[in-house]
Amino acid sequence: MRTDTGHVFKLTDYKPTDFVVERIDLTFELDPKATIVVSRVILHRREGVGTDVPLVLDGDELTLDSLLIDGMEIDASLYDATPDSLTIRELPESAPFEITVTTTLSPETNTKLMGLYRTSGVYCTQCESEGFRRITYFYDRPDVLTVYTVTIIAAKDDAKHLLSNGNFLGGGNYDEGRHFAAWFDPHPKPAYLFALVGGDLGLVEDTFTTMSGREVALKIYVEHGKEPRAAYAMDALKRSMKWDEDVYGREYDLDIFQIVAVSDFNMGAMENKGLNVFNDKYVLADPETAADADYANIEAIIAHEYFHNWTGNRITCRDWFQLCLKEGLTVYRDHAFSADQRSAPVKRIAEIRLLKAHQFPEDAGPLAHPVRPETYREINNFYTATVYEKGSEVVRMIRTILGVEDFRKGMDLYFERHDGDAATIEDFLACFAEASGRDLKQFALWYSQAGTPSVSVSSEWNETKKTFKVTLEQSLAPTPGQSRKALMHIPLAYGLILPDGTEFEGQPTGGEASDGVFHLTKRKQTFSFSNVPGRPVVSINRGFSAPVNIAMEQSPEDLAHISRHESDGVARWQALNDYATRHLVAASRLARDGRNLMPAGDLADVLIATAKDDTLEPAFRAQALALPAESDIAREIGSNIDPDAIHTAREAVLAEVARAGQEVFTTLAASAPKGAYSPDAAAAGQRALAGISMSYASIAEATAERAKAAFNAADNMTVLAQALQVLAHQFPGSDETREALETFRTRYADNPLVLDKWYSIQAMAPGAETCERVEELLASPVFDHTNPNRMRSLVGAFTAGNPTGFNRADGAGYRLLARQVVEIDGRNPQLAARLLTAMRSWRSLEPGRQEQARLALLSIRDAGKLSADVSDIVERMLA
Ligand code: PHE
Ligand code: ZN
Repeated sequence: MRTDTGHVFKLTDYKPTDFVVERIDLTFELDPKATIVVSRVILHRREGVGTDVPLVLDGDELTLDSLLIDGMEIDASLYDATPDSLTIRELPESAPFEITVTTTLSPETNTKLMGLYRTSGVYCTQCESEGFRRITYFYDRPDVLTVYTVTIIAAKDDAKHLLSNGNFLGGGNYDEGRHFAAWFDPHPKPAYLFALVGGDLGLVEDTFTTMSGREVALKIYVEHGKEPRAAYAMDALKRSMKWDEDVYGREYDLDIFQIVAVSDFNMGAMENKGLNVFNDKYVLADPETAADADYANIEAIIAHEYFHNWTGNRITCRDWFQLCLKEGLTVYRDHAFSADQRSAPVKRIAEIRLLKAHQFPEDAGPLAHPVRPETYREINNFYTATVYEKGSEVVRMIRTILGVEDFRKGMDLYFERHDGDAATIEDFLACFAEASGRDLKQFALWYSQAGTPSVSVSSEWNETKKTFKVTLEQSLAPTPGQSRKALMHIPLAYGLILPDGTEFEGQPTGGEASDGVFHLTKRKQTFSFSNVPGRPVVSINRGFSAPVNIAMEQSPEDLAHISRHESDGVARWQALNDYATRHLVAASRLARDGRNLMPAGDLADVLIATAKDDTLEPAFRAQALALPAESDIAREIGSNIDPDAIHTAREAVLAEVARAGQEVFTTLAASAPKGAYSPDAAAAGQRALAGISMSYASIAEATAERAKAAFNAADNMTVLAQALQVLAHQFPGSDETREALETFRTRYADNPLVLDKWYSIQAMAPGAETCERVEELLASPVFDHTNPNRMRSLVGAFTAGNPTGFNRADGAGYRLLARQVVEIDGRNPQLAARLLTAMRSWRSLEPGRQEQARLALLSIRDAGKLSADVSDIVERMLA
């Protein structure tokens, strides 16, 4: 295990390397237990660096087999090799020299899935962020860019395909049934973008002709027999390549683009130059085994990794503090892509939901950190919703502030000025400031201040003077390490909706407001409108233009007015969602106090009217009908949370809406598209509306029959999984549910990705008993504890997706997680740390559960030898 030095890395400590790398040649002789890596690196001392300064390279769990300088052995007194560093003294003053470093690795026993490892018989690498140092001693940091030549040698029957970054140089037979392949990547890159794959794989091929007429070979490698399930990924790849040309003028830059799907992967996918490695969950799809959401994820992640070619690879990060430079920006780009490929408002609603569900709680708890952190102990723990999702929102705000044209000018300048660089957030912002002539100094606080700002909104209507005033006031609570906060620049899109449903167009005084956006830059600002014909209703933070919490007293009538007349679909959903949230929060409080709930009549009316309104897209209607989740209600309540009360209240509201709209839901439940399945957004939207209507109809009928019939008749995974979920969550223990679970399990026993759904659905069944069920599934001999997808599908789904089960009052859920975290940590620290973050909101629970959670966290902290990953998280959570 990598030693936890407790060292804190600081942004302000940045210093370039003492030596400059000119090129690297790597040779791999692949073997499951003893892969030999020979790395030849040409370097020279950086100008101004004294001759007494040694070369210090990074390692992680390495042993040095041999070291040569300019081809010669050197005296052992001139170097020190430890598992995590190689130090070489007395190197030449200015002339370039070559070091030859040989290391031996055991891919088969590398369970961390970082560096070179084996998954289902395939050799593969994962180097971001610090995995390359598990392969050879090197400057494993993103600001060291160089060109790579890679030669891979392997037994033909062990690894038929030998892949690396860049263009194929050549290959052929070696000795004794072995063969080799050589690759050259002409684009200088940091080590984290290095990749190698060796294995016997199935191949799907296509081509793409770029805007300048070059033909690029596209190859997707999957396990044999799974080739047909890669067709959608290939289609998404071609659309992504075209989109980046059309929207950003960015062309692909190698002769070949390859994707390899593997079944053991810590994250979603990785953007290695020209050789993306994917979690197979985000490549493989067909109607029988993948649901609509899987198709949408595949499209988004294929695009995300492809877009990294420019935002991440051609322009990379100076250091890991700048992670959002590539991630926030690339998420922003993949969001825009999906919005163009699908329904933009529906996509935006899904983004808002995700941001609030994952990023807002992170920002409100002990793990809060700025979009660009200033310190870290373990960088693996910063691949977070804040860096990714909030990072994307920050880029989106730049576009809102600058407007589409100046935003594009800024991006063009960024590409032009920084191509080939390892850049910083300052470099990025300077391009937008220059392109637009705007001062972005105050705006830059979005990168350095953690926490979700709150904006309180009040308004004043003067009937006689026909004036309307909107007063905005911002605040930002302290977060770990940041007790005092500066005032932010918050761009709030707004609309004033008049009594007749039209929008008031006049400009306000009192602060900058342009193109329907209030620019809140002071603590408190009043925007005044005159000559307003009648009392308007304010729709604020339209489209979620800023990632903030809005505090505004709005009457149900006003919210209903917005949801009826908003021209913007997202704002319309926001109004509905706010309305539903407020009702559910009030109902949860009553349930907590053991009092009778108030009727949900108004809410039911609006929801049913929306469900029926066929001028609205089905996908939008489905989003409207999906009540805020229990976790959303908990977040809104904020403290002293009782998950059982929230569950009781939400179920009661669901039942009331279901009964009131039974007729409508029964009709809509049968409205799924007939005929051959198509994954397109329109068909998926229809299935979503039919699916949620089926669930409401089943609740109204209070029998499992409808869901079981849907399950039996399903001819695609979307409908099948939806039906199974209704059965398992609404009718647990019924014969129908037991039968369906058994049918599903036997039908898909040989398909791990589908079986993951079976685990997740069960893990998320509400109620205390689920905890025992999860224990039982974990103890089964067929359960694969080493596969990250499987672990996430059971433990991750239970802890992050089952508020009542996980937060059982007796603490059994927390203890289950604590045991799993300690056990997994011994094999795969990254996975263990990530699962543990499910407890990040423990301090907002009611005192009894808080105490149970604290005890579980302490048991992890005191479990003995922990990885840097887990100890960093547990200590921040307990601080
Ligand atoms: N850089 C990857 C992405 O977001 C994520 C990743 C990080 C993958 C670390 C593996 C390891 O595209
Ligand atoms: Zn990314």
